[in-house]
Amino acid sequence: TARPRVLSGIQPTADSFHFGNYLGALRQWVALQDEHEPFYMVVDQHAITVEQDPKVLRERTYRSAAQLLAMGVDPARSALFVQSHVPAHAQLAWVLNCITAFGEARRMTQFKDKSARQGEGAASVGLFTYPILQAADILLYRPAYVPVGEDQRQHLELTRDLAHRFNTRFKKTFRLPEPYILEATAKIYDLQNPTAKMSKSASSPAGIIDLLDDPKVSAKKIRSAVTDSEAVVAYDPAAKPGVSNLLTIFSALTGRGPVEIAADYEGRGYGDLKGDLADVVVDFVTPLRDRTQALLDDRAALDAVLADGAARAGEVAERTLADVYDRVGF
Ligand code: ADP
Ligand code: NA
Repeated sequence: TARPRVLSGIQPTADSFHFGNYLGALRQWVALQDEHEPFYMVVDQHAITVEQDPKVLRERTYRSAAQLLAMGVDPARSALFVQSHVPAHAQLAWVLNCITAFGEARRMTQFKDKSARQGEGAASVGLFTYPILQAADILLYRPAYVPVGEDQRQHLELTRDLAHRFNTRFKKTFRLPEPYILEATAKIYDLQNPTAKMSKSASSPAGIIDLLDDPKVSAKKIRSAVTDSEAVVAYDPAAKPGVSNLLTIFSALTGRGPVEIAADYEGRGYGDLKGDLADVVVDFVTPLRDRTQALLDDRAALDAVLADGAARAGEVAERTLADVYDRVGF
């Protein structure tokens, strides 16, 4: 029997992924491989919606692929590829651009967030339309599920709307994908500002735990995380966002519930919790960092994995694109 397909992507816009990316999405990428047929991509075309240095972008694309392999994405079971290596993504995006209403695109809150700093007038049209390219990324593979963090829910809704519109205007072509969002880790918060999401674009360095940080630096960031003045370790996301965020990360890395972990610290302070979490994080990132470096030391092997992934993805994507072109009258 065919395994249900899953698809997801991540932008190569930093030297390292962070714990929000990992716990919100990438950990699920790895877990879903057993029972599904995954397509996972490094979305370099999304990265150029804001200015990038070409050399840095190319290096970050490699670093992204190496981190995914290091955390357990298995090229034998998953097609791991780079978006720009499969031209069908940009080709389908154009068709979908032409069935998206301008007002519909304008409602995407991520554009408002991401263009806030430079101002809407200076932001690229690519940044404005990137959710439509993302819809193309997904729909080409007709996946059942898309593992992502909470911030992607609105884009998944747009994807489903466009799929439905195309299917009814032309002929049933696309599968309507479901978001796969694990509530417990759907939103990891900034360590210094624990009501805002941990984000590579918005967080300060102290607020973000990178997977490839020096483990000593990560430990220090955890010990300096913002908590509250109550000095009672309890899981209560509304009243105690800082401590609860630490407990969420602790829970995700150990498999124990956050309430159960909190109970261990009865009558003890935040310092003990932070110290223990720092140890857990260091034990997790140290081997991951070593594996990533080893993978980066063999570019030919990385190229081979990505070429194989693009060939497998391209085959599926080309078939969908051929159906689409036929249906629109090309
Ligand atoms: P960023 O938001 O840091 O720019 P991306 O947009 O590349 O990162 O997101 C990659 C994946 O990580 C997406 O599935 C996104 O939903 C998820 N993600 C990003 N930040 C967080 C977070 N703080 N908590 C949970 N998931 C997150
Ligand atoms: Na994001």
